Amino acid sequence: MNKTVLVCQNRACKISGSTAVLQAFQAYSIPGVTVIGSGCLAQCGNGTMVLILPEEIWYSQVSPDNVKAIVEQHLRKDKPVESMVYKTKYS
Ligand code: FES
Repeated sequence: MNKTVLVCQNRACKISGSTAVLQAFQAYSIPGVTVIGSGCLAQCGNGTMVLILPEEIWYSQVSPDNVKAIVEQHLRKDKPVESMVYKTKYS
């Protein structure tokens, strides 16, 4: 199934380094995966927020060092990195 990775590029996330996180995702070329720099994901203050669709799995406090694990486990093998998953009030 095709996936979309949203990496928040709005102010609060940008302060915590979301530009570098977006670049780290863009460095990978994964068939069926689209990486987008998004507007605010309404979870401000939790570090760089990343949302993976269509499954609606959230990651918070994402740094460039975390991107490899998300790519290898979640995007390539469809296994969310449970230790890094952010629980929203909706989940
Ligand atoms: S600025 Fe990133 S979630 Fe709001």
